[in-house]
Amino acid sequence: MSKLPNISTSIFSTMSQLAAANNAINLSQGFPNFPVDQRLIEITVKLTKENVHQYAPMAGYPPLLDKIALLTQEHYQRKVDPVTEILITTGATQGIFTAIQALVKTGDEVIVLDPSYDSYEPSILLASGKSVRIPLYDDYTVNWEAVAQACTPKTRMIIINNPHNPTGKILNKKDIETLENILDQNPDLLLLSDEVYEYITFEEKHISANSREKLRSRSIIASSFGKSFHITGWKIGYLIAPENLMHEIKKVHQFLVFSVNSLAQAAICQFLDFVDFKEISSFYQKKRDYFRELLAPSRFNLLPS
Ligand SMILES: Cc1ncc(COP(=O)(O)O)c(C=O)c1O
Repeated sequence: MSKLPNISTSIFSTMSQLAAANNAINLSQGFPNFPVDQRLIEITVKLTKENVHQYAPMAGYPPLLDKIALLTQEHYQRKVDPVTEILITTGATQGIFTAIQALVKTGDEVIVLDPSYDSYEPSILLASGKSVRIPLYDDYTVNWEAVAQACTPKTRMIIINNPHNPTGKILNKKDIETLENILDQNPDLLLLSDEVYEYITFEEKHISANSREKLRSRSIIASSFGKSFHITGWKIGYLIAPENLMHEIKKVHQFLVFSVNSLAQAAICQFLDFVDFKEISSFYQKKRDYFRELLAPSRFNLLPS
């Protein structure tokens, strides 16, 4: 008996196989094919000879937790406690899975906006929850009316992904305010905000749940160093959540993972001293612009990204 009878191969594998079979350029997966920052490589090589090879503390390498707290203060003017409110995870995917296992109980409903990253649904099902899927409008904006209507006493969580994969959209101020109103009206609802593309925005910055007073006290926010530093294979990210939620999340994390790769944590910790996040955006913006330029004469109608 399968616990996930309707879940098959991930869309990544399906599309990658299709691309290979048709000799097509594979744009289905965030699979950067350009070099990693040389400074990160140098830091990592140097660290391999140092004493960083044993288990890190369960919630994360303390100097890295401190740097994340600084980063969050700098970018979102949010003061987080590195000891109680941050958890280093094996990529955002593990963070999301862990948060859902810790906070969604049997029969709880979780609102998911479609199309969505395909790990959300199986994570909800494995927590014996029920996903309530609400499609985006054709222009990829959120149908907040449908979201509000879908909120019942059984609803435990809304998952958003901002900036959004695959549409490249960000939520505007009105969207965020509407979401805050919905949460106001449903005091037991939690927000899981997947912000793995937070540092890959172009003309406009996304509005992080970290920067909203009303949201952050009831949000679990997922970040990914894999995405931010185009080192997807390192599988390292983190969650930020208020202590009461994080306390529960850590209970699951300690038996799922215990602690995340120590070398990767130490290397990112040192690398963060050199990172210029604006550089990351402009690096990707050049690629985005080039891609748009090449697609401009095609039959595709290009939306802003
Ligand atoms: C929206 C979204 N969230 C999370 C992830 C996974 O992040 P990580 O590799 O850190 O697990 C992806 C990867 O494609 C993604 O698109």
